[in-house]
Amino acid sequence: EYVEQRPGYHFTPPEDWMNDPNGPMYLNGLYHLFYQSNPFDPWWATMHWGHAVSTDLFHWQHLPIALSPDQTYDANGVFSGSATIIEDGMPVLMYTAVDDSNFETQAVAYPANISDPFLTNWTKPYFNPIVPDGILPDFVDPYNVRDDTTAWNGNGGAWFALIGAKLDYPNTTNVNVSYGGALLVTSAAYGGLSKWEYVKVFHTNTYGGDMWECPDFYPVNRSDPNSLWVMKASANGGDTWATFHYSPASQKLTLASNDIAYDEYQAYDLGWSFYASKSFYDPLIQSQVVFGWLREEDNDATTRGWASAQTVPRVVSLDTDGVSILQNPHPNILSLRSNNVTYTNLPVSSNMPYRLPLIADQADIEFSVSLPYPLPSSEIERVMTPEMVLKRYNMTVSNDSIIYGVNVRVSNGGEESTPLYFAIDPSALSADAIAKAAPASPFIAQFGFTRTSSSQTNQGSTTPINGHVKVDRPTGSQGSITFSMRALVDHSVVEVFVQGGRVRATGRIYPVRADSMFIEVFSEQTIASQSINIKAYQLLDSMPAPPIP
Ligand code: FRU
Repeated sequence: EYVEQRPGYHFTPPEDWMNDPNGPMYLNGLYHLFYQSNPFDPWWATMHWGHAVSTDLFHWQHLPIALSPDQTYDANGVFSGSATIIEDGMPVLMYTAVDDSNFETQAVAYPANISDPFLTNWTKPYFNPIVPDGILPDFVDPYNVRDDTTAWNGNGGAWFALIGAKLDYPNTTNVNVSYGGALLVTSAAYGGLSKWEYVKVFHTNTYGGDMWECPDFYPVNRSDPNSLWVMKASANGGDTWATFHYSPASQKLTLASNDIAYDEYQAYDLGWSFYASKSFYDPLIQSQVVFGWLREEDNDATTRGWASAQTVPRVVSLDTDGVSILQNPHPNILSLRSNNVTYTNLPVSSNMPYRLPLIADQADIEFSVSLPYPLPSSEIERVMTPEMVLKRYNMTVSNDSIIYGVNVRVSNGGEESTPLYFAIDPSALSADAIAKAAPASPFIAQFGFTRTSSSQTNQGSTTPINGHVKVDRPTGSQGSITFSMRALVDHSVVEVFVQGGRVRATGRIYPVRADSMFIEVFSEQTIASQSINIKAYQLLDSMPAPPIP
């Protein structure tokens, strides 16, 4: 029996290959999403920009390829870039043009017909490329300078944008050392972004080997002039952010969070599938919204004929610490919710795992567990040995962790299942430990998911996805502490928002059994005063959507 691996509400290409999201924007009542595309085969080759439009960011209508490699300066690929809506509401696509010697420059494209609401056809002006190699300093590697951001309006109406780059600096012994970095460039107001000048290296550090791909730079809250700005770089196989105070007058950045580096708290996502994300401003909810590329984590794309998905659109907001970001599903996902089941205070006496009466390979699951704070160890009744915990969750956490979670894509006999879990160190919740902890310090829990049983035929990556998450303590020295997650299940995509979006964890799974449709709640111990709550919805298909009238 054939099991559908194609997601039903995550964006996927009509067929063939997709990678990075490019140029998302909202214009005249429609959202546009472009993406790196090889429209001929389900693998990476000479890049084009695919294109789709939507009224709600979930129901996407596929359109013809928007940009193809048809010029000498982009013969080897139309690489990643962004959309900017300039003066008079005019959209401009900026992209990376790769010529037949693999030199990378930046080019623009304008709508061929601005009164076509779908903006189906795009024109490349004669004056491309607009950021030729010649205007950049010698230390910029001309083969690795790409992925321009959306431009923003700075001082006096001039436009500014960043370009990801590999910077080669001679060290003291005159040997070149490479750094990833983001270059700042500027273009005059009312010039159609047609001519750019180099300003400076906007930010760089030793993270990321030698190249920052797909930089992104945006205010967390556009209506607040003092808002922090997020900078994101894609490097070393992952997307990581830092927040800054940014002065458009001086073009200076002052770090607010930790710097860009690999840090599980600053990863856009803990999963290995996630990369090359790109954001845009959604005026309808007045928030920045991010899409991330979800690459396949098996080798079967050739058989399926299509490759890769995008995350659901994620809304960025500021965490209560004032410097970190949260990411959560765009609220329009609520319109896809259908049948649901709700349990509050799921009885502890019932046999775990507890199977929900809801069959779904497309689901939106809200799960939480509250524990007494402090937690007396006398209350914990274990049903699993530490050895079993280690084996089942493939975890490197303390042996006496207490574990709660949700199993998704579970088959009837349990042959296939993907457990999403919290692992909590109970000794850190003892009255003693709480008395010693600084009151404002968050409690740290481990979150993860295991993929060793996701697929009976062992298709797909079994690399565990895990990390730590900060959990707020109750304000007093007594009360309860709550661990929560929202899991989006969509055939081969599991996208989890942990603790209100503090941590995101996405992975691809490839169940092969048609009955792998069950959802279960589990706990590996009993605690009389715990409170387990779950609400699970089936989600409707949104892809591919019927034509927009
Ligand atoms: C990131 C990336 C970009 C480049 C594009 C090419 O995944 O390597 O740096 O523009 O993909 O498809």
